[in-house]
Amino acid sequence: MKNILVAGGTDGLGLEIVKLLIEDTSNHVIVLGRNPEKLKSIIGKIDFYKIDVSNEVEVENFEKSFQVQLDILIISVGIFGHGKIEDFTFAQIRNSLEVNLLGHMFLTKALFSQLLPGSRVISINSMSGINATKERSLLCAAKWGLRGFYNALSEEWKGRNIMITQIFPGFFDSEYMDKVGIPKDKGKAIKKELIAKQIVGVCNLPDNVYLPEIQIKNISYT
Ligand SMILES: NC(=O)c1ccc[n+]([C@@H]2O[C@H](COP(=O)([O-])OP(=O)(O)OC[C@H]3O[C@@H](n4cnc5c(N)ncnc54)[C@H](OP(=O)(O)O)[C@@H]3O)[C@@H](O)[C@H]2O)c1
Repeated sequence: MKNILVAGGTDGLGLEIVKLLIEDTSNHVIVLGRNPEKLKSIIGKIDFYKIDVSNEVEVENFEKSFQVQLDILIISVGIFGHGKIEDFTFAQIRNSLEVNLLGHMFLTKALFSQLLPGSRVISINSMSGINATKERSLLCAAKWGLRGFYNALSEEWKGRNIMITQIFPGFFDSEYMDKVGIPKDKGKAIKKELIAKQIVGVCNLPDNVYLPEIQIKNISYT
């Protein structure tokens, strides 16, 4: 049995990953997020913790109460940000970094002591963590920061046998952009099922195989 925690597993790619993981009934899947109502159809098959990852106090309380030793931690939390720097409010700038960067750091720190030797951390980053694109300054800042954070942790954890895989997808078909009022035609989007399958593939790799990073480019947008 594998204990797998999916943060941001209530919607989009994270939910797709959760649905695939529960098909293997030997997995114990734990979902962390803010909106359990999105999980109605699978609620008996998972454990759920209601947490806003950008809230330090909530993450700290979770750290104190959560006692499950993890084989895999997947963090798929994210909010989109698009626009010119002069048009963002200070609150939007802060919120983007709190959710897209600090929240991932809080959670990784909080769950570190529960990560078993040989476990995997799978970070859902973005092509915005590799490329710098106009009007993506908030997202690029957070995603480049996230890449730096996990690159450094990969070095720090070498002796601990914890493998970090960073996933860098291009545009895929979730409601991520629509949620912030930027609807985008999904005709040329990558199907999120395809990305979820790659991630579940990483979860099922043999213990002696390590994939540090995977880029999944959408060549319609490069
Ligand atoms: N869609 C794309 O084209 C695309 C491309 C490249 C990378 N990505 C990345 O892929 C990841 C997943 O995105 P997605 O497209 O699947 O978006 P999504 O459908 O909007 O899902 C985002 C998830 O993050 C959770 N979340 C947001 N803020 C949170 C918070 N403060 N605390 C806890 N959970 C929070 C959401 O939960 P709630 O139910 O609580 O809102 C939801 O489960 C993100 O890291 C995103 O940056 C997306």
